[in-house]
Amino acid sequence: MARVLTGIQSSGRPHFGNILGAIVPAIDLINQNKEEAFIFIADFHSLTSIKDGALRKENTLAVAAAWLAFGLDIEKTTFYRQSHIPEVAELTWYLNCFSPYPMLANAHSFKDKASRLADVNAGLFTYPVLMAADILLYSANLVPVGKDQLQHLEMTRDIATTFNRIMEEEILTIPEARISEEVKIIPGTDGLKMSKTYNNYIDIFLPEKELKKNVNSIITDSTALEDPKNPETCNVFALYRLLASQEQIEKMRANYLGGNYGYGHAKKELMELILSKYAKERETFNFFMDNREEIEKRLAAGEEKARGVAYPLLNRVRTKLGFR
Ligand code: TRP
Repeated sequence: MARVLTGIQSSGRPHFGNILGAIVPAIDLINQNKEEAFIFIADFHSLTSIKDGALRKENTLAVAAAWLAFGLDIEKTTFYRQSHIPEVAELTWYLNCFSPYPMLANAHSFKDKASRLADVNAGLFTYPVLMAADILLYSANLVPVGKDQLQHLEMTRDIATTFNRIMEEEILTIPEARISEEVKIIPGTDGLKMSKTYNNYIDIFLPEKELKKNVNSIITDSTALEDPKNPETCNVFALYRLLASQEQIEKMRANYLGGNYGYGHAKKELMELILSKYAKERETFNFFMDNREEIEKRLAAGEEKARGVAYPLLNRVRTKLGFR
């Protein structure tokens, strides 16, 4: 039996890449598993990039609403905001003191952000330690993450192993990463990995008119309407095939190859498929965003459960370190 745990940052509204790459595979895994899972919104992590409190609050609720809209079973899941069990920050401090400086300085994700962003703050630097604390505070065994997070998981394992070795006691559980094989990288509107950072995402929860604009922003080449087109290099087709049935995919492929089928047609079909396939999820998402106390109620219940797991572990660590 494995305790599954994962989190999504609340640095933006949840987009299609988050949904197909993280939310849906995690929910599948939870439903297959007997043991209770831990799903949280990494709102502390979002402070490394977002300083606007109102925006963070909005994003946090939207991420929560997306999990609920896609059917997260909150009976089987401890569903919570990271910041509502602030003791995770205390554990982060302890773990900081067991994390070698060069390990953090060499992290791909940190080096990448440090070279791109104007605001290179210390939070970005210790980001992986907070992530380790997220996982270790709840003694998780299995952590579904995207490929870009694998190194962070390796660091979590290193930090936990070092801690246990120095403490001469197996206090922290060594977790394993779980990469969802089918959907590794979701392409964005420009063909790069779909990401808030690149501003190339599809937001499937947008009202119809805005969703249409969003889908129309997918970048295509300038092949003329009458000419045959290559489905394999087209960003619209790349997204369509992620949600369509085999039959629908073959049909669109034939249309591309046959000519007299424009990118506008393909975009329209993609748009219609999003609307029909996710009709229920869109409606549930909107229900929650219009009734925020319903989200709040569910999170508050999860936070109560989360504390029940976090406190005993943290107390063991405090005692061991002589703080108690
Ligand atoms: N860093 C993760 C991401 O950007 C989010 C995250 C924070 C996380 N804490 C975590 C994921 C703990 C898994 C477990 O995708």
